[in-house]
Amino acid sequence: MQATAVLGPSSVCVVQTGETYACSPGESLLRGMLRLGRKGIPVGCVNGGCGVCKVRIVEGCVRALGPVSRAHVSLDEEARGYTLACRVAPTEAVRLEVAGRLNKPFSVARATVAPAHPPTTQTKET
Ligand code: FES
Repeated sequence: MQATAVLGPSSVCVVQTGETYACSPGESLLRGMLRLGRKGIPVGCVNGGCGVCKVRIVEGCVRALGPVSRAHVSLDEEARGYTLACRVAPTEAVRLEVAGRLNKPFSVARATVAPAHPPTTQTKET
């Protein structure tokens, strides 16, 4: 007979940002992050429909909370550890990489808004 373990929160680490938070076994990786007001995994529909929360589980184990759309994670990708953070919960400590289409490390620089009044430059008038 196998003993049933009482599971507590598991540590979740986002490799790219170093963000670490505790996630309960009954909540998705994304909900756990949102509940604590943390950042690191892109947030979209939180219901498995948009695919922006796509991650790759680098270490640890997760369990499915619902179906993962094949439009966002193929069987081959799933076999390599890819899943949707809003559709899986940790069963042990997890390290993950953000893999969704919003994972563009230089997008912040492109999103910078130009100042309304650009800094003036002094020019010599002759
Ligand atoms: S947030 Fe939309 S699929 Fe996870």
